[in-house]
Amino acid sequence: MRSIKEALDHRYGDFPHSVDPRLEASEFLRGLASRGVCRRFRDEPVPRELIDTLAALALAAPSKSDLQQRDILIIEDVAIRNRINTLLADQDWIPKAPHFLVVLGNNRRQRQVHNWTGIPFANDHLDAFFNASVDGGIVLSSFVLAAEVAGLGCCPVSVIRNHAQEVSDLLGLPDHVFPVAGLGFGWPQGPSYISLRLPLAATLHRDRYNESTREIISAYDRRRNGVFPYRQQRNVARFGTSESYGWSEDKARQYAEPERADFGQFVNARGFKLK
Ligand SMILES: Cc1cc2nc3c(=O)[nH]c(=O)nc-3n(C[C@H](O)[C@H](O)[C@H](O)COP(=O)(O)O)c2cc1C
Repeated sequence: MRSIKEALDHRYGDFPHSVDPRLEASEFLRGLASRGVCRRFRDEPVPRELIDTLAALALAAPSKSDLQQRDILIIEDVAIRNRINTLLADQDWIPKAPHFLVVLGNNRRQRQVHNWTGIPFANDHLDAFFNASVDGGIVLSSFVLAAEVAGLGCCPVSVIRNHAQEVSDLLGLPDHVFPVAGLGFGWPQGPSYISLRLPLAATLHRDRYNESTREIISAYDRRRNGVFPYRQQRNVARFGTSESYGWSEDKARQYAEPERADFGQFVNARGFKLK
């Protein structure tokens, strides 16, 4: 495994500090510095006790005001899994992932507590959805990090929200409970690679937001292209082939097409107010 310093230098292009030897001694932090998603798995099940342990560790993560507005739903039923696989078949690695779970945002429990205590709920506005989403994201990340320490490979799945209503019906989700993301996981077939991140000069701000990032991002495009050029350019029919195709162009082309434009409607239909 690379040292933290080597991994951060590689990931960000340049990490201008030395790393405290106590941090370098931590296998967890070295793993975090070098981590990456996994989309290819060995055909070998993960014991249920291990999955439950990882879920318990993930649910130990911080939660806004201790409201605990997030849950994990592990899919074990073959018929449900097959239906999910069919819905998400566009991503061919998903049906091959040995295990699949869904992280849920859950604002329902809070509302139940109000019903059970007879104390009125005075926060029926956007924050209810936002807080549950953030709590869900934190649990997703914590599960991934714990699973990676256990030697598993994982990849989150936002495309599950392309079928938010059908997935919610399939999983019996009541109002005010919604899928934040799926997660495919299992024993990895090989090592993951370090995906280059935007330089810290663009994403680590001090005191005031730094808006002057265009050059920094262009340099990132060039560096990333030199290390891992995109294998395929998106939407060549609409935008043609670009000589200098990098992260910026890939992300701009990705979001030149509407994606989940009906998600707000779905969230609204689950009982959330978006204002
Ligand atoms: C919330 C979330 C949703 C994601 N959804 C998908 C997905 O639907 N399909 C997929 O292949 N990867 C998905 N990913 C994985 C990202 O593409 C991946 O994390 C990103 O490219 C950075 O790679 P790295 O994690 O190896 O550094 C998702 C990641 C996150 C955090």
